[in-house]
Amino acid sequence: MGSFAHGKSSSTTIFLVCISVFTALDHLCTLHIRVAAKSNVYIVYMGQKPHDNEELLVKAHHGVLASVLGSQEGSVDSLVYSYKYGFSGFAAKLTMAQAQMISELPSVVEVIPNRLHKIQTTRSWDYLQLSPRFPNSLLRKSRMGSGAIIGVLDTGIWPESEVFCDEGLGPVPSRWKGICESGELFSPAKACSRKLIGARYFVKGLEAAYGHPLNNSEFQDYLSPRDRSGHGTHVSSVASGFFVPNVSYHGLAVGTVRGGAPHSRIAMYKVCWQVNGGVCADIDILKAIDQAIYDGVDVLSLSLGPSFPSYSDVDMRNGIAIGAFHAVAKGIVVVGAAGNSGPAAYSVSNIEPWLLTVAASSVDRSFLVAITLGNNWTTMGQGMFSGKLTKFINLVYPEVSDLDDERACESLSLNDTWASGNVVLCFASDDYNDNTHNTSWSVKKVGGLGLIVAKNPTKAVEPFIDNFPCVQISLDIGMQILNYIRSTRNPQVKIGASTTRVGQPLSTTVAYFSSRGPNSVAPAILKPDIAAPGVAILAAVPPSDPKNRNSYAFISGTSMATPHVSAIVALLKTLHSHWSPAAIKSAIVTTAWSSDPYGAVIFAEGRPMMSARPFDFGGGIVNPNKAVDPGLVYDMGMADYIQYFCAKGYNNSAISGISKRSISCPKRRPSILDINVPSITIPSLTHSVSLTRTVTNVGAINSSYKAAIEVPPGITIAVKPRILKFNHKTKSISFTVTISSNQRVTTGYCFGSLTWLDGVHSVRIPVSVRTNI
Ligand SMILES: *[C@@H]1O[C@H](CO)[C@@H](O)[C@H](O)[C@H]1NC(C)=O
Ligand SMILES: *[C@@H]1O[C@H](CO)[C@@H](O)[C@H](O)[C@H]1NC(C)=O
Ligand SMILES: *[C@@H]1O[C@H](CO)[C@@H](O)[C@H](O)[C@H]1NC(C)=O
Ligand SMILES: *[C@@H]1O[C@H](CO)[C@@H](O)[C@H](O)[C@H]1NC(C)=O
Ligand SMILES: *[C@@H]1O[C@H](CO)[C@@H](O)[C@H](O)[C@H]1NC(C)=O
Ligand SMILES: *[C@@H]1O[C@H](CO)[C@@H](O)[C@H](O)[C@H]1NC(C)=O
Ligand SMILES: *[C@@H]1O[C@H](CO)[C@@H](O)[C@H](O)[C@H]1NC(C)=O
Repeated sequence: MGSFAHGKSSSTTIFLVCISVFTALDHLCTLHIRVAAKSNVYIVYMGQKPHDNEELLVKAHHGVLASVLGSQEGSVDSLVYSYKYGFSGFAAKLTMAQAQMISELPSVVEVIPNRLHKIQTTRSWDYLQLSPRFPNSLLRKSRMGSGAIIGVLDTGIWPESEVFCDEGLGPVPSRWKGICESGELFSPAKACSRKLIGARYFVKGLEAAYGHPLNNSEFQDYLSPRDRSGHGTHVSSVASGFFVPNVSYHGLAVGTVRGGAPHSRIAMYKVCWQVNGGVCADIDILKAIDQAIYDGVDVLSLSLGPSFPSYSDVDMRNGIAIGAFHAVAKGIVVVGAAGNSGPAAYSVSNIEPWLLTVAASSVDRSFLVAITLGNNWTTMGQGMFSGKLTKFINLVYPEVSDLDDERACESLSLNDTWASGNVVLCFASDDYNDNTHNTSWSVKKVGGLGLIVAKNPTKAVEPFIDNFPCVQISLDIGMQILNYIRSTRNPQVKIGASTTRVGQPLSTTVAYFSSRGPNSVAPAILKPDIAAPGVAILAAVPPSDPKNRNSYAFISGTSMATPHVSAIVALLKTLHSHWSPAAIKSAIVTTAWSSDPYGAVIFAEGRPMMSARPFDFGGGIVNPNKAVDPGLVYDMGMADYIQYFCAKGYNNSAISGISKRSISCPKRRPSILDINVPSITIPSLTHSVSLTRTVTNVGAINSSYKAAIEVPPGITIAVKPRILKFNHKTKSISFTVTISSNQRVTTGYCFGSLTWLDGVHSVRIPVSVRTNI
């Protein structure tokens, strides 16, 4: 009765779909790479546990395997993992034919081929007003997240970093069942503390997928929870790091580094490995989530996911989605990165409605650099380096003879020796993004003194190698400089020192790289859900010299935005331990900033830059101090997620496998528009449609809310009732929204909002409508 997720093509290949850690540097991983593998590994997903006896479950898993393989010994060799805490299932080495046979067993929901996923100062907390300086901040109310446990699935952790110091923390919460595993350069007695309370690693799935033990040239990692790449340390430090004062990068961005929930505890589940550049296997991720459910985390922070959602790998055919579904069913909030494939539409990943999916935005900080041309014209660029070029230097732009008028930065190489002694201007193409490191490396190597890169504006500047003066400017300023070069016999330039600027009037933007909606799989479910700072985030990384305790780096990516939200969830959970994951998500989405904390318009970087829309940032920028008291929440429970499956066309037999509950689909297929998410998205409106939502009062018992509607152009919206009155008997009220189009033609998406107001709270959800005649 199960179905088989992939066709024949997977019999001899494994898909390396980038579930990578989402930093902006890792654009490398946008291709689906196929590698030959000797044996295939599959996830056999059996849905909700029929009972709580784990030993019996493992026996049953062996039984299922043995029935197909023909022997008990065969099943012992074949089984990689039993999933037994959050749900039932196992990972096993199987041939295609065996996988097919297992998928037909009645107890099996899905058989899914394993996928390998290619890896790819914290001004942000002040910006979010989540700082001890703000007396009423959520940070104080929640005692900095004391008691909350954040589970991080990533590349491991560097436990000696000062940010993971456990000073002043109380004992490990007694409900915690996790452990620290020992391994290479990782001794639990030394590494684990009242801060890092759990550390495990999952590599069996990766090895099984490769079909052979990994040798040293392939495996460049510590076989333990210790972090080699730095990503996991950075992400953990953003979520939970303790205060470390006076941190800077060559004097830039000086301040105190800390996490969002500095008193929360961390459990690291290492699932991503430095193998062929970096991979995470689906079956290891699923095992880590199963284990984290058992261990007792409050929040799971997943700065990973497929780079591009793959149309067939959704819902219950995707390891992260399955694991997250069962974690959410147990009350754990699962926060996932939107991905770094922006600004293209439909690029967002982690699209299931039970996930809280995070886009990346900038903070009110820039690293400004003055560029002065020989004619004394001065303009500002962005760059991070500590030196400056105080004397005028020759400025060169290599004219090329072909039709392509702009000399592309990416073509600069070690052959370009003419750059020696000069500052080079180049133009970057749109998909250039991460090559600035290589270009500046080449220019420096041949003796160049500086580099000016003209590109689509983005705030995601990063320090380049060896502090090399590399300045980023917009394309139009690049054209002005080019005109100067072409009109002058001896073009010259001076480059000032990089300076840190914070506060107004620096606008907030959604990062260029941040993946955008609509949701390619279920367009009526808005994704991403929220945005959080993910541009030039300074946090801890492993030191290059192991004797050194501290090392910090700027990294940009939705990977960095994700732990910002995970930390805020941890703080909210300490105050509202009984709220469901959906209630917490709703609180975060409905209270988000739709203009920046100074009241200015938020822009989305792209071509051209436009004001940000729900497909860029969901509800807006996360506003932690408001999320603590949202007034009303759009709550969801298991029955709502089942409705989602019914709306997606899953039938009762599949659903009973997933949930093992007596919830079944109604005769008439429910509308996906009625799923109670904190947003309304109508991908295809013909004339008029009605949908329902239910809000639950979590504020004062007696309260009355009035609807305020910001209508998208060409659309009419009617809400019934327009006034919601709550009292000790009425906690939840459903309302109907009727949306009609006045358009005579098919349109693109238009945007508005629906807000419930009681004089204290403002409960806002985004409305996105596309007319399709
Ligand atoms: C490591 O294993 C790979 C794949 O089996 C092989 O191509 C490579 O030569 C091996 N390297 C070493 C140093 O043994
Ligand atoms: C901060 O660090 C810098 C350089 O590491 C040092 O010169 C300075 O004295 C420090 N300031 C404080 C207040 O510790
Ligand atoms: C630029 O300014 C400097 C100092 O103010 C001055 O000496 C120089 O003549 C100016 N150059 C041009 C081309 O105007
Ligand atoms: C550099 O020049 C050599 C010799 O002309 C050529 O073979 C090589 O491809 C060039 N490299 C690059 C990166 O252009
Ligand atoms: C950048 O340079 C490194 C080392 O020289 C090379 O391995 C890498 O492929 C280059 N990256 C890009 C995107 O060209
Ligand atoms: C339910 O769906 C599965 C796969 O989509 C299919 O194989 C099965 O026949 C369906 N069962 C019923 C009762 O429709
Ligand atoms: C709510 O209103 C009812 C009826 O007006 C009143 O009896 C009750 O005291 C109020 N409760 C609160 C908490 O204000």
